[in-house]
Amino acid sequence: MRIAISTGGGDAPGLNAVIRAAVLSATSRRWEVLGICRGYYGLLGEDDIIPMTRDTVRGIGHLGGTILRTTNRGNPFSFPVQQPDGTFIEIDRSRELLDNVARLGIDAIVTIGGDGSLKIAQQLYERGVHIVGVPKTIDNDVSCTITTFGFDTAVSTAIDALDKLHTTAESHDRVIVMEVMGRHAGFIALHSGVAASADVILIPEIPFNIDRICDKVRDRDRAGRHFSIVVVAEGAFPVGGQESVIGDSLPGQDKRVGGIAGRIAWEIQHRTGKESRSLVLGHLQRGGPPTGYDRLLAMRFGGAAIEAVEAERWGHMVALQSPHIVPIPFTEVLAEPKRVDPNHDIVRTARASGISFGD
Ligand code: F6P
Repeated sequence: MRIAISTGGGDAPGLNAVIRAAVLSATSRRWEVLGICRGYYGLLGEDDIIPMTRDTVRGIGHLGGTILRTTNRGNPFSFPVQQPDGTFIEIDRSRELLDNVARLGIDAIVTIGGDGSLKIAQQLYERGVHIVGVPKTIDNDVSCTITTFGFDTAVSTAIDALDKLHTTAESHDRVIVMEVMGRHAGFIALHSGVAASADVILIPEIPFNIDRICDKVRDRDRAGRHFSIVVVAEGAFPVGGQESVIGDSLPGQDKRVGGIAGRIAWEIQHRTGKESRSLVLGHLQRGGPPTGYDRLLAMRFGGAAIEAVEAERWGHMVALQSPHIVPIPFTEVLAEPKRVDPNHDIVRTARASGISFGD
């Protein structure tokens, strides 16, 4: 048996722990393992294919990033290619990829990625590739799994930042607006905001009204709390408005969501007269060592992926459905994206604790 492992999309703390568990589980079955470097680039002749042994994965379980490297631009079905005039077109290079899978004698692929990578995996599966998926994203927006590895680490990083912002905001009687990642999902903002006692949490699932945010800031001021902490998910948007986009993504990449924190801080300062600051926590949320929870989940996913290969569960993603890890068909996972339920108990508890959602 010869399997290959790929990591695609944005990195997430815990990727190396998945790789380690998968390689160790596979080699203990006497299977051969290859690493496809940089998403699928390695299978398109644009990067390397490397042998993975017990030595390759020694001492990596606690490290952030991915030793296989990754990309969010390598979709083989719409691969960006620059033309002589500098413009880009997207071409389908899947035939080339399938030929390389056959040429290298790869019996199965384990793909570790988010919804974008899982969509590619489904297309490869439909073309006959023996493939299983492992859910990865700090955003926690993959359906059918209670959580993804990387999310807990990102939330912990955000909580740490919010704790620090609290003390400086209070010292200066300021409003501080912190933007966290999540694309179209508000899980990081919600979980970190509640755990770190933010005053306002803004998420894409609950469009906000800037007047309500300012009301909250003024109410706190009147009550003698002269500072406020706002956590905003990068994809949050006002009622009737649209998410804020940073307009410099590269060909083949999704649009870059973000920039909302600065706008909200500006509005608050101009409407309430209170000094306001903003920051974007950014890629700090994706870096650093995974938390203990993420390491263990990642290891479990890696081991379960190899069991899924052994059981020939092609076209399935391993998912946490506590207390077990179970295989779920890609089609079921991709049927609808996971989003915060505005009536979830965490939202209700937040409201009961006086946190405003700006609605
Ligand atoms: O999906 C993970 C994620 O970190 C999102 O939260 C964020 O919008 C995006 O990736 C950022 O990607 P990039 O690496 O292109 O900046």
